[in-house]
Amino acid sequence: MKHDPYISFLTSIQWGIDDTPPPDVAQADWLLEQGSMTRRFEQHCRQVTIHRCREGYVPASAIGREMALLPACDSYWLREVILYGDGKPWLAGRTLIAASDLVGAEWALTSLGDQPLGKWLFRGDVPVRDYIQLGKMNSLWARRSCFRPSGKSLLLTELFLPDAPLYR
Ligand code: PHB
Repeated sequence: MKHDPYISFLTSIQWGIDDTPPPDVAQADWLLEQGSMTRRFEQHCRQVTIHRCREGYVPASAIGREMALLPACDSYWLREVILYGDGKPWLAGRTLIAASDLVGAEWALTSLGDQPLGKWLFRGDVPVRDYIQLGKMNSLWARRSCFRPSGKSLLLTELFLPDAPLYR
């Protein structure tokens, strides 16, 4: 698919933005959104769709520095998607969870298909989120969060693409 190159940006984000200008107020409001980003996007278009670029198990050696943010494990479930608002690429998303955490309700993460992650993550009470860290990839904003569904650790990285409403 033609927007897949954005996926490679997800591992080139500069985390911690101490030496760059902070986001303006409207952008910060997007970046610090505590609820479902899919739901928020849905208020700005008719239809949100997901294209899965990569999904499956990867060995620990394939995830690099992110391993420090997750429980140690031999393998991790990786999901990388492009989210579209009315056919325009708005966000690149990358989810990582240790294979050992894919038990109980979390097993459902392996069969989301083209359903947005948020539909699962925000299906009940607001999930516990340990932090939101901001980052940049050139002029694009990114954020990452560690969610703690049932005490497990799910690392979600989101890169806001040029057509995303937060740049308007
Ligand atoms: C996903 O379905 O993997 C997904 C959806 C929306 C996001 C991030 C990830 O904001």
